[in-house]
Amino acid sequence: MLKVGLLGAGRIAGVHATAISSNPGSALVAVSDYYPQNAEKLAAQYTCEARTTEEIIADPSIDAVLIATSTDTHSDLIEAATAAGKAVLCEKPVDLSLERARACLAKVGPSGRPVMIGFNRRFDPNFSALKAAANRGEVGKAELLSITSFDPAPPPVAYIKVSGGIFRDMMIHDFDMANFLMGGTPVSVSAAASSIVDPAIGAAGDFDTAVVTLTYADGRIAVIKNSRRAVYGYDQRVELLGSDGLLQAQNMLENTVVKSTTAGVTGAKPTYFFLERYMPAYAAEWAAFVAAVTEGTALPVTLEDGVAALAMAEAATRSAKTGQPVRIADV
Ligand SMILES: NC(=O)c1ccc[n+]([C@@H]2O[C@H](COP(=O)([O-])OP(=O)(O)OC[C@H]3O[C@@H](n4cnc5c(N)ncnc54)[C@H](O)[C@@H]3O)[C@@H](O)[C@H]2O)c1
Repeated sequence: MLKVGLLGAGRIAGVHATAISSNPGSALVAVSDYYPQNAEKLAAQYTCEARTTEEIIADPSIDAVLIATSTDTHSDLIEAATAAGKAVLCEKPVDLSLERARACLAKVGPSGRPVMIGFNRRFDPNFSALKAAANRGEVGKAELLSITSFDPAPPPVAYIKVSGGIFRDMMIHDFDMANFLMGGTPVSVSAAASSIVDPAIGAAGDFDTAVVTLTYADGRIAVIKNSRRAVYGYDQRVELLGSDGLLQAQNMLENTVVKSTTAGVTGAKPTYFFLERYMPAYAAEWAAFVAAVTEGTALPVTLEDGVAALAMAEAATRSAKTGQPVRIADV
């Protein structure tokens, strides 16, 4: 039984607390937060201890930590937890700074401690089925990948200001999805971005609407579209065109009822947001982490994967500002 400490007791920590405590191979023993009252509230809900982050990391009876704190703490906590001998699952992104993330990898990599990054979408049953079909060659050789990823509504501007920007905070998931489905990283990143949804997002120095084109050494292309606002719900679709056909993963809908009348054909909206859409993916992500750590097998998502996606976010940020393509080798 893996004894687990949860660092952070905010929005995503609640989701992870459920996954940890419902998995038969793990037990949630302690939770911390910068604000102790947040930790106490979550600890009461899951009948575990509220402790400080430092106490959890120093406790030799705790085998693993799940880092669900604010992004600017991730690299420091990965280093501290691995130095204390813990296995780590850390939320995305690895850091706001690519340089800092690379330093973290350089420090932690040689230790051999397991560190997995929370790219939960790899564990979505729809996207993993698409990947499996692509790997079996069911549509031939992959040529063009399209990823659509729209949030239902923008977050508060206060969140935007500390998020690291749309490419590091939001599109990071899609960069990892592209790496997952294409089986490697692109050579070049081109971005077009604007703040057409909310000018206050632009005034904060960020974008709310963005399109990125990724080009690969062998000629393949991927296109990623992000928006902070899709009024009909969380729009999360993937399409892979290959030499022998097309694979599509569609949205999960609120229900499957389709109404057909003389007025037309209508159906339900996509599920509202990430908590509704990806709950099974978070549970599967945690189960994969527990299995790999307890059996000593390779992690399905690594710290290297986290740094690779962050390098693409850095390249896209530069490209959006200059209007020029940026080579991954140059970031
Ligand atoms: N994978 C996903 O789908 C997904 C979804 C949402 C958020 N996230 C990521 O998860 C992280 C947290 O996001 P959130 O939306 O839950 O934010 P949040 O602000 O709701 O929660 C973060 C919590 O961390 C606490 N904290 C900060 N420093 C700490 C420290 N040193 N020790 C303990 N607690 C500390 C804060 O007080 C806060 O309660 C972010 O990095 C975000 O990018 C991932």
